[in-house]
Amino acid sequence: MAEVKLSARLQLINQMVTRHYDHIWDCCCDHGLLGTALLQRRAGHVIHFVDIVESLMAEVEHKLTQRFPPPDHNWQVHCLDVACLPLAAKEQSQLVIIAGIGGDLMVELVQKIVAAYPEHNLEFLLCPVYHTYKVRVSLQALGLGLVDERLLQDNQQYYEMIHVSRYSSEPVSVTGTHMWQLDRPEHQSYLQRTLKHYQRIQQGGRRDVSNIITAYQTLLSA
Ligand SMILES: C[S@@+](CC[C@H](N)C(=O)[O-])C[C@H]1O[C@@H](n2cnc3c(N)ncnc32)[C@H](O)[C@@H]1O
Repeated sequence: MAEVKLSARLQLINQMVTRHYDHIWDCCCDHGLLGTALLQRRAGHVIHFVDIVESLMAEVEHKLTQRFPPPDHNWQVHCLDVACLPLAAKEQSQLVIIAGIGGDLMVELVQKIVAAYPEHNLEFLLCPVYHTYKVRVSLQALGLGLVDERLLQDNQQYYEMIHVSRYSSEPVSVTGTHMWQLDRPEHQSYLQRTLKHYQRIQQGGRRDVSNIITAYQTLLSA
């Protein structure tokens, strides 16, 4: 079977799934490309495809039925709001992947899932579009610990991938730690771009982001 063609961003998220899970949730899955790649390499016992748009999910279901008919039917399609994710029992290992949505919505979704499943060993693999600082602050506040993190440049865009778990004791840094390779020009350029973004906000005078600027400046001298 031909492998699905993934963008560099989805490819890296796929690579960051380094162990087998009972359930992997490809949330906000759109056309389901990431979940399909995970399904092809059997990264989870059941791969769940979740999106709120009915027509998209009907299309995903149709394609999966053709590509992975019984007995390879280890997938499920859910048309629903990710805030209402129906996770499996807490004894089962589960990874919730959310990528390609804004940081504000991502924070809201993660907060709701964490609140709904206080006893699950939750693991999230997150790749927000913008507002990663806010996402990181929220992950800290929720008590989730760092498993892995990466920074990727693709098509003039930068993406932070953050893998966290309830049972990792490594604190999530608000600016990122292991992902930075500041000897690489693209990482320097992302750091400068991020700093300039917050410096413009500070100059605008409507929000005090001096603590955020200081946090990113600390990386420059590290
Ligand atoms: C740009 S696509 C991201 C696709 C893929 N995850 C990626 O990273 O390339 C965003 C998707 O999020 C879905 N979405 C937005 N809010 C949602 C929510 N609360 N629950 C489920 N799906 C949602 C949209 O319908 C859309 O298909």
